[in-house]
Amino acid sequence: MKTVLVTGGLGYIGSHTVVELIESGLEVVIVDNLSNSRLRILDQITQISEKKVKFYNLNIVIKKDFDLVFKENEIDAVIHFAAYKSVGESMQKVLEYYENNIGSLISVLSKMEEYKVNNLIFSSSCTVYGQPETLPVNEDSPVQEAESVYGTTKIMCEKIIKDFINQKHTQKAMLLRYFNPVGAHESGLIGEITTGVPNYLFPFITQTVFGQREELKIFGSDYNTPDGTAVRDYIHVVDLAKAHVSSLKRIEESNSKIETINVGTGKGYSVMEVVKMFEKVLDKPINYKLVDRREGDIEKIYAVCDKANELLKWKAEHNLEDMVRSALKWENNLSNGDVKL
Ligand code: UFG
Repeated sequence: MKTVLVTGGLGYIGSHTVVELIESGLEVVIVDNLSNSRLRILDQITQISEKKVKFYNLNIVIKKDFDLVFKENEIDAVIHFAAYKSVGESMQKVLEYYENNIGSLISVLSKMEEYKVNNLIFSSSCTVYGQPETLPVNEDSPVQEAESVYGTTKIMCEKIIKDFINQKHTQKAMLLRYFNPVGAHESGLIGEITTGVPNYLFPFITQTVFGQREELKIFGSDYNTPDGTAVRDYIHVVDLAKAHVSSLKRIEESNSKIETINVGTGKGYSVMEVVKMFEKVLDKPINYKLVDRREGDIEKIYAVCDKANELLKWKAEHNLEDMVRSALKWENNLSNGDVKL
């Protein structure tokens, strides 16, 4: 394996993955249409890795544009991140979500077929499990009908990939089901970018810490959890990025046509535990208020990561405190202008 194409490579998980791929000695080609990312991230990646990365600014849904990337490069594997990812927005922009998330996958698979690229890593989500009946969830836990269009696109994409791979003799795929990625690169040069009011917990908290938000609203305090707030399996984005490097090794060596793997830490933390960790690290209180549950939220979810540990020979190494510290460093760099986007 030499050259890896990363779609959505300037996005949050994509950019961290690109850094780890370069570090592991692979050649990387990025395609991104900047719909939810910034060109500046390319410079930041170069700064971290001291290497220029080949970049195409185009929309992969448009196959004739995407074709150029395959014509100009000999691609050995595709890591496909490029997709819309906002649960709430997906209910407003139904067709855009289906067109972009399904269309981009179809483009990727078509080009893989045409140019005989054999390896695909797909970014899926724990959202496919809905609210699982038993916890923790392993890969055989039932996939449940999604509550959002975003979630449905992930379930549909998994199915499309399975149907495609089962028809093909040479192509292989890994479906990585991410839990809740948070934090940022230790350099503080790349991290999660949000426009407008963040939906996700970590950026909302860090923006509250740096004075951009007045207070954090904790959605729901009457869940059936030890402190009443919802539980998630938060995973440091750098650990998640490294799981992709391990997945490439696995897909190259394994005889399996398709593998589905949970990527989390195996440990659940409540919203309140996250808030307490921020308070501990900062040594000051976070301004928060307990409010009603958010519509569509599940109560608790965390993963069994045995399959990732065994097959990928990978394990999450960062703890909650690392996640919090790195997220704060990134937000600090944004707020004091050390990183300009
Ligand atoms: N939360 C708050 N206040 C906020 C933001 C979030 O209390 O301002 C709570 C949420 O209610 C939830 C927890 O923090 O209990 C985590 O919420 P996030 O929005 O950060 O993440 P989600 O678990 O909702 O989202 C994750 C993935 C999505 C996926 C979704 C499906 O990040 O990609 O699960 O359930 F679609």
